[in-house]
Amino acid sequence: MTDEQPEEAPLVAPAADPEDRAVEAALRPRNLDDFVGQKRVRRQLSLVLEASRLRGRSADHVLLSGPPGLGKTTLAMIIAAEMNAPLRITSGPAIQHAGDLAAILSSLTEGEVLFLDEIHRMSRPAEEMLYMAMEDFRVDIIVGKGPGATAIPLELPPFTLVGATTRAGLLPGPLRDRFGFTGHLEFYSTEELELVLRRSAMLMDMKVNSAAFAEIAGRSRGTPRIANRLLRRVRDWALVHGIDLIDARAASAALDMYEVDARGLDRLDRSVLTALITKFNGGPVGLSTLAIAVGEEPETVETVAEPYLVREGMLGRTPRGRIATAAAWKHLGLEMPPHVAAAMPEDLFSVAPESLLDSESVLDSWAQPES
Ligand SMILES: Nc1ncnc2c1ncn2[C@@H]1O[C@H](COP(=O)(O)OP(=O)(O)OP(=O)(O)O)[C@@H](O)[C@H]1O
Ligand SMILES: [Mg+2]
Repeated sequence: MTDEQPEEAPLVAPAADPEDRAVEAALRPRNLDDFVGQKRVRRQLSLVLEASRLRGRSADHVLLSGPPGLGKTTLAMIIAAEMNAPLRITSGPAIQHAGDLAAILSSLTEGEVLFLDEIHRMSRPAEEMLYMAMEDFRVDIIVGKGPGATAIPLELPPFTLVGATTRAGLLPGPLRDRFGFTGHLEFYSTEELELVLRRSAMLMDMKVNSAAFAEIAGRSRGTPRIANRLLRRVRDWALVHGIDLIDARAASAALDMYEVDARGLDRLDRSVLTALITKFNGGPVGLSTLAIAVGEEPETVETVAEPYLVREGMLGRTPRGRIATAAAWKHLGLEMPPHVAAAMPEDLFSVAPESLLDSESVLDSWAQPES
């Protein structure tokens, strides 16, 4: 595989692909009422915006964090719309020098919303300039170099910074502290994704019944971007098969064809679990051995397949290697043999998938270090 032929991203990858970027704008809800789910963030944000409207001032700076495809960019646009304010969009990687940021800040108009995507990827000097801009609405423009350099203070109009990050943990404390409101977006429930899909289908002029929405939502990994992407694939399939009203059978036939199964696992996910179970009796097996068994790079297995399998509680990472949980055996239609079940740590079944993702301590307590 050469650089000129990038491998196509999996259908269930959370990051935006070129097609997503081209069509997402049309599907983005434009106001808070149309934004599905994230009840807590929505309620708190709505209060922040309402209060600033009543005070007649620009809203507090807002930080939005969470995994890709959950609605950070969408919310940033909604904030500007709700404040009836113009929106300027930039991103961390685009701001390599403090001067890049100074140019943007000095051209803001009063009340403008500045959306800074991937804020954790900004350069350090730009970050320091941002501290002052956020707090005091002013920046020091440095003119000249070396001992003769002078700082010229520049007043800025009040503005609202909306920062977005998939890696809130990477943000330095002083930056995080300067946001008046932080909203952390969570994965969506199947019911919420059904609502997202319902709205998208209407905008795309598709006829889809409730059972089909449930079928697609169940395969969407808690992520609206993936839900909308799967909906487009179902639409293609229905068009080619001359189907006007999409029902659950059509939706599952379409997604089966794309190899996205009922829990949202794709071919790689399933081959990782299958190898773990059929070749290594459920593990534990080291990452590199597992990767060879599925014919992938260890990094691909670790970064592409594992996060969702861990989140779903199907795969455990232990110091001795990877293990398939009872849920994984069940998902593949297999029964976990009693001796395998007996060798599994009891706590593995009592921990929620979420905590499996964050902490390996439960597993560390029983497993031996990988040799
Ligand atoms: N709550 C929601 N209601 C309806 N649609 C949503 C919602 N959240 C996201 N979407 C849809 O999902 C798509 C992706 O959302 P968005 O681009 O806002 O994600 P993001 O968090 O900014 O992702 P990234 O981290 O990759 O930038 C949008 O096109 C939007 O239509
Ligand atoms: Mg975004």
